[in-house]
Amino acid sequence: MVYRIAVLKGDGIGPEIVDSALAVLHRIGEIYGHTFLFLECAIGGEAIDTVGVPLPQETVDCCLKSDSVLLGAVGGPKWDSLAGDQRPEKALLGIRAALGLYTNLRPAKLFPALRGASPLREDLINAGFDILIVRELTGGIYFGDRGYRTGKYGEEAFDTEAYSVTEIERIGRAAFEAAMKRSRRLTSVDKANVLETSRLWRKTMHRLAAEYPEVTYSDMFVDNAAMQLVRNPKQFDVIVTSNMFGDILSDEASQITGSIGMLASASLGGTTRGMYEPIHGSAPDIAGQNKANPIATVLSAAMMLRYSFGLGAEADCIEQAVDRVLEQGWRTADLAVNGGAPAQPILGCTEMTEKILKELSPAQ
Ligand code: IPM
Ligand code: MG
Repeated sequence: MVYRIAVLKGDGIGPEIVDSALAVLHRIGEIYGHTFLFLECAIGGEAIDTVGVPLPQETVDCCLKSDSVLLGAVGGPKWDSLAGDQRPEKALLGIRAALGLYTNLRPAKLFPALRGASPLREDLINAGFDILIVRELTGGIYFGDRGYRTGKYGEEAFDTEAYSVTEIERIGRAAFEAAMKRSRRLTSVDKANVLETSRLWRKTMHRLAAEYPEVTYSDMFVDNAAMQLVRNPKQFDVIVTSNMFGDILSDEASQITGSIGMLASASLGGTTRGMYEPIHGSAPDIAGQNKANPIATVLSAAMMLRYSFGLGAEADCIEQAVDRVLEQGWRTADLAVNGGAPAQPILGCTEMTEKILKELSPAQ
């Protein structure tokens, strides 16, 4: 089979980590007899510098013509002083909206080999945890009306959150379906004690819950969820929540796994075309120094194989290779920080990629 993948390397460490994932995909293609065609296009700061806008129409068209999209990261200090709608981050929101990717899957699981890197006490994590955060990605306050106006105290800025029943229903269904394929436990996170959007969210989720009697459903306020994630992460299976709450909780969940450098994500809509990206940012402080951890991007490529192309064995192969490399004690700098002295010398991005490539062999 031939798969056309739009490749948006972006800024900072984006190019290095995406190159690692492309090398892994290329090797998977050789092992399993697939052809992956990579179509590179500019996004974020890179696009601002070359064509003057963070999300060129050409890039959107290229993604729409592809079977799936792999993204590195966007943004950096160079573009921080630009107005809100011209910033690199705007491209990320824009491409998600243009491709209709309203479901964001952010798995946060504890890799046994990285247990020591988690900032949580051993007794809180010794049973492990495996959480899937389902974040609504194209609505809510990140997309609502915004602006400046004169208020009671003079100049003020505002952002608004709106959610339609349709938007809540489709993300809710995605979450219930995901829960059906896992431990069948779903927690919907909201702020229904304060926000009107959350009250509609909760009402809609309850209606859906009646359609999925096999799923054990519960509601939780977002402030409590933030606390519960560090108090007892094992209690969660699937979490479904709004765009902003999901943004925040997924960073928190990533930290308790030991490193944000490990976490992949999939953004999906109504078709098999998705966009896959690490959840960490562009890390401009270490860009171009061969220090980045490529694992989140490599695992994002694995998610692409599984969710967009239905290539489960190939995805398992990548995930197991990563597990083995970690079990052997290999670490990039971010993983070595909290995890005590690593058993092996610290690896750069290219060396870590080589270790993963070496471990790729058809899964048992
Ligand atoms: C993320 C990021 C983005 C978001 C930013 C960079 C726009 O934080 O993917 O979590 O808020 O969605
Ligand atoms: Mg974020």
